[in-house]
Amino acid sequence: AAAELEPYQHYMQKEIFEQPRALADTLTDVLEVNPALFGDSAWRHFEAVDSVLILACGTSYYSGLVAKYWIEAIAKIPVQVEIASEYRYRQSVPHPAALVVVISQSGETADTLAALRHAKSLGHNHTLTICNVATSTMVRECALSYITRAGVEIGVASTKAFTTQLAALYLLTLTLAQSKKAQDEASLAKHLHSLRHIPSAVQAVLALEPQIISWARAFIGMDNALFLGRGAHYPIALEGALKLKEISYIHAEAYPAGELKHGPLALVTSAMPVVVVAPNDALLEKLKSNMQEVRARGGVLYVLADAHTSIDNSEGTHVIRMPEHYGALSPILHVIPLQLLAYHTALGKGTDVDKPRNLAKSVTVE
Ligand code: G6P
Repeated sequence: AAAELEPYQHYMQKEIFEQPRALADTLTDVLEVNPALFGDSAWRHFEAVDSVLILACGTSYYSGLVAKYWIEAIAKIPVQVEIASEYRYRQSVPHPAALVVVISQSGETADTLAALRHAKSLGHNHTLTICNVATSTMVRECALSYITRAGVEIGVASTKAFTTQLAALYLLTLTLAQSKKAQDEASLAKHLHSLRHIPSAVQAVLALEPQIISWARAFIGMDNALFLGRGAHYPIALEGALKLKEISYIHAEAYPAGELKHGPLALVTSAMPVVVVAPNDALLEKLKSNMQEVRARGGVLYVLADAHTSIDNSEGTHVIRMPEHYGALSPILHVIPLQLLAYHTALGKGTDVDKPRNLAKSVTVE
């Protein structure tokens, strides 16, 4: 194993740094927006559907949450995202005109498979999986599929599977937008162009590692952390908190920043670092006032700010400047520093990064 890891110390670290390659591989065949990328009969399914129901677990569930923001904004059809283990046991209202999308790295997660079978038993026939394993049960049991080409992921904490799922979900968004005529061809071409540029944008973000290492030093001694984001970056805050919990065993939770005043603000002290995902989007001014609420209570801020924003380093406010603002695809970039933060914090604590206690890579039993 040591030889194939060179020059890395852990699989998770290797997999974080492989993301530009994993994303490029996932997008190799994507020369245009075309339903056929999801299967020969995809155009028929996409024409027939009027909404999307996403089912998944863990990190894959969070990529589904990001997709909801994308699909509703760009393809303009309603999206519901549900944790697979909840959906399968709930008395839901079937809506056979929904496209059921199951997202899974392994394609074998028991709850997600059961949720898919449950949806089919309720009359849902438009089924699609976004999956990293072409030979998996989920791919076999869905009408349509898109295979992410992250390559084998060994670290229990998912990294490259997540960002490649996001790339596939963005492509799905554009394809649905085309089928539903929600965007014109020029706009679709622009979106596709930025998607194809994402591997090099991720490469630039990986260069921020030295600055993340200095943040991680401060997190090693902490028992709790709070992650804030808004809009499509709220699920990124959730994923950042999950990564930190999974491998460093620091209790972390994520909140949509607007909810801060409805609870978590009561927990903020100098012993509770607050990570803020702060892209330069329409919500930035709102986010800045959320940050002031934290500072006013003595909370220490760790802000991932985009280029050209007026958030600067000051007492109690640590800023890492992202290379460029990336519009709708920004969640793919902002998760990278959060993966690195969890990794370096865990490294500093000496935990088993690739095999965290009590967790399994793929949960194939209930
Ligand atoms: C486990 C893994 C997570 C993963 C989740 C869903 O909990 O530890 O990293 O996100 O299962 O797995 P799947 O293979 O369905 O994406």
